Amino acid sequence: MTTATATATAGEPTDPADHADPNVRADLSDLDAGIRRDPAAHRVLTGDRPTGPLHLGHYFGSLRNRVHLQRLGVEMFLVIPDYQVITDRDVADRLAEHTENLVVDYLATGIDAERATIFTHSSVPALNQLLLPFLSLVSVAELHRNPTVKDEIAHSSQAAVNGLMLTYPVHQAADILFCKADLVPVGKDQLPHLEVARTVARRFNERYPHPDGTTVFPRPRALLSAAPLLLGTDGGKMSKSRNNSVPLGADEDTTARLIKGAKTDTDRRIGYDPVGRPEVSNLVLLTALCQDRAPEEVAEEIGDGGAAALKRTAVEAVNEHLRPIRARRAELAADRGHIRQVLRTGSERANALADTTLTEVRAVMGSL
Ligand code: TRP
Repeated sequence: MTTATATATAGEPTDPADHADPNVRADLSDLDAGIRRDPAAHRVLTGDRPTGPLHLGHYFGSLRNRVHLQRLGVEMFLVIPDYQVITDRDVADRLAEHTENLVVDYLATGIDAERATIFTHSSVPALNQLLLPFLSLVSVAELHRNPTVKDEIAHSSQAAVNGLMLTYPVHQAADILFCKADLVPVGKDQLPHLEVARTVARRFNERYPHPDGTTVFPRPRALLSAAPLLLGTDGGKMSKSRNNSVPLGADEDTTARLIKGAKTDTDRRIGYDPVGRPEVSNLVLLTALCQDRAPEEVAEEIGDGGAAALKRTAVEAVNEHLRPIRARRAELAADRGHIRQVLRTGSERANALADTTLTEVRAVMGSL
């Protein structure tokens, strides 16, 4: 089994739920090669809402991909979208703490702060100002049709849907386009938002070309991770807010307790059958990812050991794999001054870029 790569593999079976427009997704077959040939031709932007600690699902699903892309030499922007927290709740709880902990997780898993630009939404005013012209490029009906927004509204704890919830995919387009990123590593659920960013870029370029006919924005593409999705300990989607995840920063005993509490079944023979036995297969997969092996091999080795042996193996594999990351994490977490400096530097770089882009936008709009 190979380690995480930036892209899904060529010929991977496509899910009918995948986005209809193949251009929304990066060209999966030769993108990695294309990046290797000319990493400087690409720029990556992605981010995580500061609502809680990152977990194993983030790590195998996206953090490792980012590190891979950065090692290929692609410039990396990481937005911590603090304004996006208040789309589905009234107040952003422990915002500064969650924000700093995200930076700790990024650096501990291998993001190089010298080369990456890590910043919060709220510290880059010009980025947010792009939202205004961008909102004029989408219809209210389009905002209402977004399937991911609809799903988030269904899961929201708020009595009424607020305006920021409805418009946040456009705000996210500003996150991506302010730095003219062309590659956006995200989960499948974010594909409708990528489509919004692409639509905004296209319409803006058509409506406001430069006098010489060149255009302001690239059309960003989503990079879907090749890593299979990990489930939470309850068998549902692993999520920060569902109390079913193993945080990267959890200690070894907590990790053991969480994994031992995971849902399994009573068949003693351990196998890898994600459709028929999703919970057992999830622990097999987790072990395989940690040990960089094939899940079938892991299952074969446990054989008739049952769920108890499977869990013991999984706990050991996770703790062993994360040990160096957790050690780095602890060192980083002890130096808050350094973490804040990383954010300050990131915000300075992001502001310089956002100011330049906003000036260009205002020029083509005739509002300078
Ligand atoms: N909405 C994304 C999430 O919940 C986070 C995010 C905000 C993002 N802005 C972004 C992701 C821009 C990619 C690009 O995961």
